[in-house]
Amino acid sequence: MRDIIDVELKARSVELGKCKTDMLVVGHFSDVGGLDRICKSLDGKLAGAIEHVIKLGDFKGKAGTSALVYGGGRIAAKRVLIVGLGEKKKATIDTVRKAAAQAAKKAVAVKVKRLSVALHGAFGGKYDLTMVSRAMAEGIYFGSYRYDEFVTVEEDGRHDSLKVEFIDSDSVKTKKLTKGLLDGAIIGSAQSYARTLANRPGNVITPAVLASAARALARSKKSLTCSVMDEKQLLAEGMGGILAVGSGSVNKPRFIVLRYKGGGAGAVTVGLVGKAITFDSGGISIKPAAKMEEMKLDKSGGIAVLGTMKAVAELGVAVNVYGIIPSAENLPSGSSYRPGDIITTFGGKTVEVQNTDAEGRMILCDGLSYAVKQKCDIIIDIATLTGACKVALGQYMAGLMGNDDGLIKQLQNAAKQSGEEVWPLPSGDDYAKEMKSNIADLKNIGNKWGGACTAAAFLRQFVDDKKWAHLDIAGVEMFEKATEFTSEGSSGFGVRLLTSYLLNMAGSK
Ligand code: BES
Ligand code: ZN
Ligand code: ZN
Repeated sequence: MRDIIDVELKARSVELGKCKTDMLVVGHFSDVGGLDRICKSLDGKLAGAIEHVIKLGDFKGKAGTSALVYGGGRIAAKRVLIVGLGEKKKATIDTVRKAAAQAAKKAVAVKVKRLSVALHGAFGGKYDLTMVSRAMAEGIYFGSYRYDEFVTVEEDGRHDSLKVEFIDSDSVKTKKLTKGLLDGAIIGSAQSYARTLANRPGNVITPAVLASAARALARSKKSLTCSVMDEKQLLAEGMGGILAVGSGSVNKPRFIVLRYKGGGAGAVTVGLVGKAITFDSGGISIKPAAKMEEMKLDKSGGIAVLGTMKAVAELGVAVNVYGIIPSAENLPSGSSYRPGDIITTFGGKTVEVQNTDAEGRMILCDGLSYAVKQKCDIIIDIATLTGACKVALGQYMAGLMGNDDGLIKQLQNAAKQSGEEVWPLPSGDDYAKEMKSNIADLKNIGNKWGGACTAAAFLRQFVDDKKWAHLDIAGVEMFEKATEFTSEGSSGFGVRLLTSYLLNMAGSK
């Protein structure tokens, strides 16, 4: 088994024309006539080669497109990659992130060893350069990521590492680039860590193996501690939800709790609760066979929490955070929970199971009650919870529900910054009413309609009076196919969003 591509990042002061590198990267907007100052000076040295590509119409600067120009010895760089940035008036911080991702993906495909990036130049002073650099670094990790640890016979091969530098001729700017890239590298590598864990299949990652990964993470960070409850302890604690879901598999459930102490006395404590179903077959209410293999990614919410805890610990963010990860495997067998069962959850509420495939909420309710018991001031859960959310929002945005407008706003801001987008959905009383059972406090499914909202309304019953938000990431947890920006498989969605949220929260104190 081999490691994912290792990224090395730094910033350097050098003139573009003198930068000795395998691939030099610059950006170009589609609606800006002529080249910007940086490209122009480079183009002068290239005898107008960039201008030529644009004039020919081979490259129009559209987002997601790029063109390669060869240096031919006229500049120190072997190649120049011009990346399309789309319309300047539509540009956001995510434009630069995606452009960097595209460049990194290309660099891996072309097998360059050394990549020199000057994408920030096209944005002038529109954004704080430190933030641009952070986004570029995140993009470099995102774009260079490939999941191939089990591929033993490969025709094409790839390098084990990619050396990347952010370059500028101005040393003041290089300093800002360095500052931003340090944070971006932490966040980017935490996301890649999450993607690899999520991409590993159900025969490799069981709840116990996931718990070992969490323990190993905590061992490597001074500010992180980890405790794990096994089946016996779950029984003693009365965690009926997670026990029911895990009852059908020989891979027994685990309740993983990571704790990060970064805030001083009186600091706010945030509880992150992530669904980690290592494989969701649906259980006795079994799913159809088509695409069932994608359900190895049903642990993505829990792993996003794990990745966020890694980032937050490495960044030294000044908040206190609980990472709460209930993990189970949902399989049918003679010992499985069944439709009709009535389960007593950790918080004491009883739930009538009407569909064993609505298992995410059965483990999350125990996780949420646990967060309340730990006195978390703010609780955010993240889960591949409903196919209905994927139907409603597609594969570009996560559903965002909650009981506090301020918290929703903060998450929307973090989404904008991080480029992991969210869209608000309701989960109020009308939806909650549907989740009432005649023979228990709640049932685990609603009627046919609004499944993402009724699922959230179910979760809402377990957070008492705490500020709470719910991210339904079904649909955004994976890429079905490779895109211009990254490879197929887990997207690591949530790591950037939650880390941005926590960084903002620490900054606003
Ligand atoms: N893990 C699934 C949700 C899901 C679907 C995630 C597609 C990613 C892509 C979840 O456990 C599930 O099966 N939900 C059911 C709920 C239903 C039985 C009320 C669903 O969405 O069909
Ligand atoms: Zn399910
Ligand atoms: Zn599921």
